[in-house]
Amino acid sequence: MSKFMDWIDARFPATSMWEDHLSKYYAPKNFNFFYLFGSLALLVLVNQIVTGIWLTMSYTPSAEEAFASVEYIMRDVEYGSILRLLHSTGASAFFIVVYLHMFRGLLYGSYQKPRELVWIFGMLIYLALMAEAFMGYLLPWGQMSYWGAQVIISLFGAIPVIGNDLAQWIRGDYVISGITLNRFFALHVVALPIVILGLVVLHVLALHEVGSNNPDGVDIKQYKDEDGKPLDGIAFHPYYTVKDIVGVVVFLFIFCSVVFFFPEMGGYFLEKPNFEQANAFKTPEHIAPVWYFTPFYAILRAIPDKLMGVMAMGAAIAVLFVLPWLDRSPVKSMRYKGWLSRIWLLLFCGAFVILGIVGVLPPSPGRALLSQVCTFVYFAYFILMPFYTRMERTKPVPQRVTG
Ligand code: HEM
Repeated sequence: MSKFMDWIDARFPATSMWEDHLSKYYAPKNFNFFYLFGSLALLVLVNQIVTGIWLTMSYTPSAEEAFASVEYIMRDVEYGSILRLLHSTGASAFFIVVYLHMFRGLLYGSYQKPRELVWIFGMLIYLALMAEAFMGYLLPWGQMSYWGAQVIISLFGAIPVIGNDLAQWIRGDYVISGITLNRFFALHVVALPIVILGLVVLHVLALHEVGSNNPDGVDIKQYKDEDGKPLDGIAFHPYYTVKDIVGVVVFLFIFCSVVFFFPEMGGYFLEKPNFEQANAFKTPEHIAPVWYFTPFYAILRAIPDKLMGVMAMGAAIAVLFVLPWLDRSPVKSMRYKGWLSRIWLLLFCGAFVILGIVGVLPPSPGRALLSQVCTFVYFAYFILMPFYTRMERTKPVPQRVTG
């Protein structure tokens, strides 16, 4: 075996890659629950790719046959219903995991120097993931697939001068049609998965270049033993691989319970109108995107002017990219930041969740006001950050990790 590995190593850096990224990658010993979600995101990514490949074997990307081919997968293809529900539930699970993963970043200042690029690659993954989910949702060619895409693509029409041409270019037609379905299929199954996989590699490489942050936000590379190993670091493999397996088992238990017993999740994971085939002549009573888009959809609806709404929605995502430069705090972790940072993070998360809830409900004057207040809080969190992070009194940060 060792001769075989020598042969490989002389031709490909297998052992050094294993060591650099696993057996000799020293991660802080104080990782907590929130540090599980990176590994879980990888797991869900693999689930989406594997189940997606199998679904593609029986799915037909045409306006005439797409809906029926999904029904065929659900009823006739062996294990087809499980494959499809693993994929549809996986989409929601992906966003739950990624939102918790991002929240961890906000909590422990993981985006701060020197991890700005880790964060930027993460944000690019998030953008690509949103595009991936949006395009995947058109494929079953149900009523919500059709009308959801109709609403979102028509938003591009609000852009002055080029808007209508741009929307038509995206659709490839004057209305959403089989042509749109075909191009979304190509992007969903080939182009975007490649982009996401590439970005995940860059994300992890950037992280391993600078090392992981931790709940204390202290740099473990400051204190090393005589071999150059951080005193507060433990090898990712086997210590965290084993720890992550426990989390993976718990996650799979919850995930499989949803897949087997509540795959529609009361209409939140699979929306009710999508059990009816797309019909260009029949608009559903209430059109709402899937839950993971609704915070941004609520921001769009909070602003009466369409163009301003589209701009606010874009800005809500764009502002996350510059987060590393908005936080001027001398400390990383919320454990040592002051009260203002804590209160603003709480307000921000509250506003995000409320926007998400308001976004799935039909509009009303009261909800419009609520979403305006929450949109204001959402942006204030970022715009005021350079001020409150500098103004507030922070607690002294320990030299070494605690716990
Ligand atoms: C497919 C989606 C993603 C995958 C597979 C992924 C994977 C990972 C993995 C394996 C880690 C190391 C383990 C950990 O610290 O949890 C990590 C760390 C990190 N990720 Fe992601 N990630 C994804 C999306 C994102 C997004 C959307 C963001 C934020 C915009 C993000 C920001 C970060 C940050 C800041 C770290 C460093 C955390 C620290 O050291 O404290 N990631 N990611």
